[in-house]
Order: sequence, then C-alpha cells, then structure tokens
Amino acid sequence: MLIPNNNKNNLRDSIIALKNEMNAVILAHYYQDSEIQDLADFIGDSLELARKAKTTTADVIVFCGVHFMAETAKILNPEKLVLIPDLEAGCSLAESAPAEEFAEFRNSHPELLSITYINCTAAVKALSDIICTSSNAEKLIRQIPDSQKILFAPDKNLGRYLSKVTGKDMVLWNGACQVHETFSKSKIIDLKLLHPTAKIIAHPECEEALLELADYIGSTSKLLEFTRTDAATEYIVVTEPGILHQMQKALPEKTFIPAPGMDESCSCNNCPHMKLNTLEKIYNCMVNKSPGIEMEEELRIKALKPLEKMLEMS
Ligand code: 13P
Ligand code: SF4
Repeated sequence: MLIPNNNKNNLRDSIIALKNEMNAVILAHYYQDSEIQDLADFIGDSLELARKAKTTTADVIVFCGVHFMAETAKILNPEKLVLIPDLEAGCSLAESAPAEEFAEFRNSHPELLSITYINCTAAVKALSDIICTSSNAEKLIRQIPDSQKILFAPDKNLGRYLSKVTGKDMVLWNGACQVHETFSKSKIIDLKLLHPTAKIIAHPECEEALLELADYIGSTSKLLEFTRTDAATEYIVVTEPGILHQMQKALPEKTFIPAPGMDESCSCNNCPHMKLNTLEKIYNCMVNKSPGIEMEEELRIKALKPLEKMLEMS
C-alpha cells in the first residue's frame, strides 16, 4: 500500500481524514512516540485505555500500544474492528507466561487465587481469576481476604512491591519487563548527586533495589498525576521515557530527567515493542483494515470474565 508521501503533516492529515471516514478512534499508550501521542484521541495507562475501549462509540479502534492491549480492547469489544499498526508489538512480560505453563502451574496449585497483570496474553487471562493493572492492583489485592493465598503473574517485580505494600504473602511468577529491568541503580544515584533537589519517581515494574530509591512509585498515569500535584520542580523519571512527553506538555516549567539504562551504547530504556508503531504503519493499517485482532469467541468469553471482575472491583 502506498502512503501519501513521507511528509509527516500530510500523513497526519490523511490519518485524521481516514479516522473520520471510518468512524475510528485512535487510542495510544504513554510509551508511544510523541508524534503518535499528539495524534491520538485518547492517551492513557493500561487501565484507562481498557476503560476507554469499553465505552467508545467508534466502529473501529486503532490501538497504538502493544498486542496485549489491543487484544484487551477486542475482548471488551467483539463487534468492533480493532487494528494494531504492527502485529509484532509484543511484550516481554506477556512472553514470560506461556499459556501451557501457566495452566500447568494453576492445575498443580488449585488453592491459589490468580491475580494476573494485564500484560499477558488472552489465553493467560482466560486462565486467571482477576486481572489487574499497575494502577488498580493494590486496591484489588486489599479486597482479597487474608486467608486466600494469591498467585501473582507474570511480573515478579510488581508482585514483590504489591506484597510489600499490602502485607500479603503471594506466590510470584518469574517474569519481568525488559525495559524496567534495564535501569541502573548506580547511574540513578549519580544523577541524584547532580540534581539533589530532584525527586525520583518510578514505575512498580522496576526492581526492588531501584524502588527503594524512589520518592514516589506508581503506574504511568499516577506518575503523571504526581508531578502535577507535587511541589518539586525536578524529577528523575524511572520508567519508559515516552511518558515524559505528557509531563513536559502539562508542566513546561518543570524539569524531567529520563533515568538511563545500564548500557549507554543502547537506548534500552525505550520499549522496543511500543516503538515499533509509526505514523506510516498507523496509516497503512487504517487503509488496509489490517492487521487486526482476531479471537475465537470461546477464548474471548473466558478472558472477559476476569477483566470484567477487574473493572467491577476497581
Ligand atoms: P501502565 O501504563 O498501566 O502503568 O503500564 C506500563 C506498561 O508497562 C505498559 O506496558
Ligand atoms: Fe511490556 Fe515492558 Fe514494553 Fe510495557 S514497557 S510493553 S511491560 S516490555
């Protein structure tokens, strides 16, 4: 498929024209490139995007995020066409929990209630009791009686953090986000020495040693909200740097410093999956009405149950 030409303004105009023609809505996660965020109708964290996907009146959802997010939108909206600009946009957390292994573990531990992070495949959602995101997980877990043992999958770092704040003993799946594990504690300490008044704000997908340095821990939208209400003027932001775009837009007078990765020769703090999406791919998926998310109805219905439970409880 030919794109109009490589001029970004033309591309943006063509996407907007197509969007109106198709009655489409463009949803984007905070980790998308700034030009995609600026084009989107709605930008949010995983929970806000799932909620928006459930309530939109559009016929077509163009999901600028990763596969599990577009899949979630499809589970909530079977009648809508859900497009994803790049079908290869995966997630290391979703990959760390293959459905067969997860099913086997669940079968051998029937006493555990599984609270599963939304960063997982539809097949794993279908095997879970309750889905959560990083912004509602603590609230959900606090509603579970102490006598009920919990299996938290697939993010061991988020699970460990939640276990610490709620005091619940949880069995943790051994998965991690490749981006949030790339931050270097010593480099963040060096940055703090250079910027002594800066507050360190971190996503709970980071490792424990890093979270110990943080003045505030929260999901992407909670980090953004914190910088809006907090009095500091400088922040070291320990999550994927895509979020800085909205922080800088909302608070141009403040300074936001992206936390560096361990290896200076790569930009490993950028999510390689999120960054697969481009304006060209958005345009092409809208023209081609593909790639789209397809799902068997039986799987969708099973995956819907724990997602609805999450929306009910949060
Ligand atoms: P939230 O936007 O829900 O904080 O999630 C972060 C993330 O890693 C999404 O993949
Ligand atoms: Fe997955 Fe991590 Fe990328 Fe989020 S940032 S999509 S958790 S790999």
